[in-house]
Amino acid sequence: MTKKIVLVSGGAGFIGSHVTVELIAAGYNVVVADNFSNCDNTCFEGVKKITGREDIPLEKVDFCDAEAARALFRKYPIDAVIHFAAFKAVGESVAQPLKYYKNNLQSFMNVLEAAQQQGGCQVLFSSSATVYGEPDQVPVTEQSPRKPATSPYGNTKQMCEDILQDTVKASGGRIKGILLRYFNPIGAHPSALIGELPRGVPNNLVPFITQTAIGKRECLSIFGNDYPTPDGTCLRDYIDIVDLAKAHVYAVTRMVEGKMKADCEIFNIGTGRPVSVLELVNAFEKVNGLKLNYKFAPRRSGDVTAIWADPSLANRELGWKATRTVEETLQAAWAWEKHLAGKD
Ligand code: UD1
Repeated sequence: MTKKIVLVSGGAGFIGSHVTVELIAAGYNVVVADNFSNCDNTCFEGVKKITGREDIPLEKVDFCDAEAARALFRKYPIDAVIHFAAFKAVGESVAQPLKYYKNNLQSFMNVLEAAQQQGGCQVLFSSSATVYGEPDQVPVTEQSPRKPATSPYGNTKQMCEDILQDTVKASGGRIKGILLRYFNPIGAHPSALIGELPRGVPNNLVPFITQTAIGKRECLSIFGNDYPTPDGTCLRDYIDIVDLAKAHVYAVTRMVEGKMKADCEIFNIGTGRPVSVLELVNAFEKVNGLKLNYKFAPRRSGDVTAIWADPSLANRELGWKATRTVEETLQAAWAWEKHLAGKD
């Protein structure tokens, strides 16, 4: 059987590079496309090392350029596209909403239009648990209501979900879609050759922890210790990046093998395990044998108190399950930070 071709937009970034590794391991041909606006080629080089493949096609493409998107679909007979190419900083999206609406919506619509013009394909969109807002009940299932977005970034996730669903509906079966709603992806590949590489001061918890541990940041601020949770800090569902990447392989396989039960499906990708910020910090210290400089600080505006996934639909339908412990994941995150610092 000829290998299926998967286009990974934003494939040189944190999630895209891990997904590329797992797709190649599963026997797919991958075309990586990225405009390198928020990453350099560190992870792409890492992907080549991990897979032992020098020949992975890399296309420098900005999907906001409609003609460039169309050209890519003309160049390769793409069976499925996984769309990551988007801006993702919540705070920046509040300060610069138009930057987010223009980039995140336009690039996705261009991908869909290009796919449509080529006769259709399978589309996997990287959505986020942010669409659930502050949930009324935890864990959240795919049926839990979407809440009004608290940031333009979150709004673009909701809007892209809607755009894909409407496009699938109108396509007469030529475009099928899967929305994966990620909880909190953390960690790095066990090889320490790829991982998260935030530009400037990290917004997310784990890169801030590892950068504090290595000495790049002075002190971690834990935002809020007066939440109505067991230890007063927020609860999240931290999902290992390699586990998360594997979910994409299951989802793409379900699509290309025609096993979907509806033309557009939604799956939560999480562990089902709530972990508090303080628990995560303690686990990081313990498993890596170090002390982290941290302090409690006021709540961060826009943060939800507690959210974690009910991943049973993905477990059942995709045959996928998160396997790694928080400790293993935090060890990998630390190994990656040390690799970056050249101290390994
Ligand atoms: C955010 C986004 C989510 C996005 C995800 C990417 C929202 C509301 N959240 O999730 O959509 O998919 O990033 O990973 O849109 N924390 C600290 N100190 C820090 C940083 C974080 O205490 O320096 C705390 C936060 O208050 C929060 C937890 O750590 O309780 C996780 O924060 P973060 O990693 O930023 O992820 P989320 O805000 O959950």
